[in-house]
Amino acid sequence: MDIIGKRSWPVLFVSDQMQKQTDEGAWLRDIVHVLTEHNGCTAMFCSAYGDAHDIIYSHEDLGTIVVDWENADPGRVHRKNEDMGSGNAGARLVDYIRGRNRTIPILILSDRSSIESIPNRVLERINGVIWKLTDTPQFNAGRIERTVVEYARTVLPAFFRNLVDYVSEYNFAWHTPGHMGGQGFLKSPSGTAFHKFFGENMLRADLSISVPELGSLLDHSGVTGEAERFSARVFGADRTYYVLNGTSTGNQIVWRSQVSPGDACLMDRNCHKSLSHAMVITGARPDYMVPMRNALGIIGPVDFSSVDPGRSYVMSALTNSTYDGICYDTRYAADKLRGAGILHFDEAWYAYARFHPIYRGHFAMSLDDRSRLVFSTHSTHKLLTAFSQASMIHVKFPRAIHESPALQDDFHDTFNESYMMHGSTSPQYSMVASLEVATKMMADNGTTAHADILEEAIELRRKIARIKEEETAAGDWFFDIWQPDSVTRKTTRELVEDQGNWALEPGAAWHGFSKVDLSERYTMLDPIKLTFLCPGVDVRGVWADQGVPAAVVTRYLGDKGIVCEKTDYYSWLLLNSLGTTKGKQGTLVAELFRFRELYKANAPLDTVFPGLVDDYPARYLGLGLRDHCLEMHGYIRSHGLLENMVRSSRIIPDQAMTPSDAYRAIVRKDIEFVPIDDLDPERDPRVAAVMVVPYPPGIPILMGGEEIDEKALPIIEYLRARQDFENRFPGYAGDIHGVDRSEPAADGTCRFEVMLVKRR
Ligand SMILES: Cc1ncc(COP(=O)(O)O)c(C=O)c1O
Repeated sequence: MDIIGKRSWPVLFVSDQMQKQTDEGAWLRDIVHVLTEHNGCTAMFCSAYGDAHDIIYSHEDLGTIVVDWENADPGRVHRKNEDMGSGNAGARLVDYIRGRNRTIPILILSDRSSIESIPNRVLERINGVIWKLTDTPQFNAGRIERTVVEYARTVLPAFFRNLVDYVSEYNFAWHTPGHMGGQGFLKSPSGTAFHKFFGENMLRADLSISVPELGSLLDHSGVTGEAERFSARVFGADRTYYVLNGTSTGNQIVWRSQVSPGDACLMDRNCHKSLSHAMVITGARPDYMVPMRNALGIIGPVDFSSVDPGRSYVMSALTNSTYDGICYDTRYAADKLRGAGILHFDEAWYAYARFHPIYRGHFAMSLDDRSRLVFSTHSTHKLLTAFSQASMIHVKFPRAIHESPALQDDFHDTFNESYMMHGSTSPQYSMVASLEVATKMMADNGTTAHADILEEAIELRRKIARIKEEETAAGDWFFDIWQPDSVTRKTTRELVEDQGNWALEPGAAWHGFSKVDLSERYTMLDPIKLTFLCPGVDVRGVWADQGVPAAVVTRYLGDKGIVCEKTDYYSWLLLNSLGTTKGKQGTLVAELFRFRELYKANAPLDTVFPGLVDDYPARYLGLGLRDHCLEMHGYIRSHGLLENMVRSSRIIPDQAMTPSDAYRAIVRKDIEFVPIDDLDPERDPRVAAVMVVPYPPGIPILMGGEEIDEKALPIIEYLRARQDFENRFPGYAGDIHGVDRSEPAADGTCRFEVMLVKRR
């Protein structure tokens, strides 16, 4: 197919001869002429090794690199030169290319007389030598073309290659989907617009399950099965299952495959709602592990001292890493969870962990003692490059299953029943291809790509810390980042290489988890998760008179096209991933300075947030940005919102019934919506029908089946405080799963309602 044929993989020529009026220059130009005019390839040029580094760094679409060994112009030193090993500039360039890409063809152009100068370690890492001024241009161009074609073919993993081949055959489709390769869309103007927007290939690759060339996802056969096995190898699993409905479904598949009604399970209270759904569909009886919270509300690791080592559980689920980037030493966690027969790590946000040594020992598939069955669920789409919803379940077998193919088959046969219960018989093949390609990308150069992400994230961390330090010294304020002090003291390389720099050490001041809570070192902060801190309150809970609530900052950033991952009261989260660019970071820092200027000038709110003032003129017209921040800060502080949130998240209410029984009450319509103002937990306890999860920070404060009684009173008080806050600051309503908002009253205020199980 032309789009990914040889034309789209340019050959990079690194030679200062290209422009010169010399024999060598003419010889090289002839080769390029034949290559591009007759052999259908494309070419790029640079004369200095230094420039070649930059091109290679930013172009992953090169098809072959031709390096002139006698280049007189080494060019300026690339910033990554320190990583390129020793030797002359040509050898360092070859090392650099191989460091970034293990398979791209490298051809050396060399004078026969200087063969001696090419060291063996270079010869081992290249694909061939072209002797200068020998052979015809046709022959040399043909050899280069061949390397491009062969390489381009290996770039495509098996499933994707078969999909591309199938689409390239221009078959007449007589099967579903009804648009039949996109043709159906062309029958109306809106369909035509859809076709133009998504493009022909996307639509022609949307095929029916009846295309045998692509294997079967439900049977894990053919090239689909091959793709899953490839992912298993790359992610360090014994088996991998592709899931096309997110980790939301992956989690439910795992639980449904192992847990029966009434089974005791151990659940991270900081769990995604899909794990609550997993308990509903399995009938599990949960005990909860409670995560720590610092005074800013940032969620820390689970406090394992609350886990009873004497109790047995069928399965445990731990969120790793957490939203805020806390990753567990999984050997430590497994030991603390020794009462659980099966370990499940919800690693929805953490699919990249295996590909950089900084996460060594901190992800599920690194557990290798084979004492128990271990599951990891990945939202491959979240921080790797799969399409939205494309996810994976990875499995590591205990020794007995690992050593017995028959037991592996048994495992698969039973597991697959649960898998099929959640799988469609009409899979989207582009999603399957995206999972396979995300895997291939990690196999090809995952470590290098992740090192780049880490470097960028660390540089941004240092930049913000430096600005904060300079501005504070000058008597001004700025935003900060939640991070260990070592970030400002060590070099980027030390920070990327030594995991110890990111450990949450007991007693360290920066993280704000008290010594009592965090008595051992068993977690680290993921450097690529950037939690920005606002002035107003610190990690120990010390308040300042002036403050800038994060909701105001992220509203401002959002208006400027900088969309944040999560907003807490005085912190917000940004993620670095494969899609992060330097430009993004520069714009962010510039906008933070601009926000501060607008704050200092108390800029009129109708110029800063015109939409907000248009929507609520009576409330906000005439206010300035600083007035707005200070009013909200004063409110959060005086109403104890933050403290309330932290307190309520530490309570685990009593269970009146299992999450599953509470759900059955919903099915029987045995429920009612009750305004939280009408609840009287002390005198009239009630039972929650569904989980209640306020964002921020996204941790359940109530689970279906839990009792709203005196013990749970702080939870209801927190919800009332949130309700009052939203009525006081319209336009700042946060998402709260499990809470319905009433129609606004005449004065515009809303009431929160929760779904409760009806009294018997
Ligand atoms: C910890 C955790 N698990 C599971 C999920 C669900 O993942 P998905 O969006 O792929 O369904 C999420 C989503 O945010 C999550 O945060």
